Amino acid sequence: MKLQKSKRKVMIAPSVIAANFARLQTEIAAAEKAGADMFHLDIMDGHFVPNISFGPIIVKTVHRLTKLPLDTHLMIEDPDLYLEDFKKAGAARLIVHVEVCRHLHRTVSEIRSMGMIPGVSLNPSTSLFAIEEILPFVDTVLVMSVNPGFGGQEFITTSLDKIRRLREMLDSHNFHALIEVDGGVNAANAAEIVKAGADILVAGSAVFGADDIHNALAALRKEVS
Ligand code: DX5
Ligand code: ZN
Repeated sequence: MKLQKSKRKVMIAPSVIAANFARLQTEIAAAEKAGADMFHLDIMDGHFVPNISFGPIIVKTVHRLTKLPLDTHLMIEDPDLYLEDFKKAGAARLIVHVEVCRHLHRTVSEIRSMGMIPGVSLNPSTSLFAIEEILPFVDTVLVMSVNPGFGGQEFITTSLDKIRRLREMLDSHNFHALIEVDGGVNAANAAEIVKAGADILVAGSAVFGADDIHNALAALRKEVS
């Protein structure tokens, strides 16, 4: 049975970590031309997650290559120490993890006062109750649908129920935060994720891992529009 398509305008954020960095300019241009809404940048420190990716220098590089907003996902300890660096590098949206922020309200307020759009993310094992109090203050909630640290993992299917419950929490209070879903998103599950309540889909391997970036993004878009 075909799932009913959503009325909401869904945004697609290709995750740059899955790109071929030797061809970064070409791949960014291809994704932009294919209708990407923003680029997702995964910052990993080898402490909060068991992998190291890249930092502000690469964010700055991508900023030079595109006019699209940079959705910067900090998977790092002590994010407060680096907010300014990411602002300078060109991050438009800055997402921090609830698991590492002792004073999350302060961090979120700081991000906003710097002129960036604040978001909060939570790991698959973190309860929605952990973010309940911050919901009125953020513009995005990023639901991790894999354990953060690596691209190319399989979508954890219980995330669908979590997205549904988050949608209810936001709607019942008239909070405006968007729901972003990150990890294992592809053309086969995108419609279901959007039906559960997602507004932004992050896709790494499903876009940059494909042979044809344009076709891959179009296939994803077709599922959610
Ligand atoms: C995982 C990252 C994701 C990752 C998604 O730690 O936060 O953004 O790049 O990659 P795919 O779409 O391949 O699961
Ligand atoms: Zn991410």
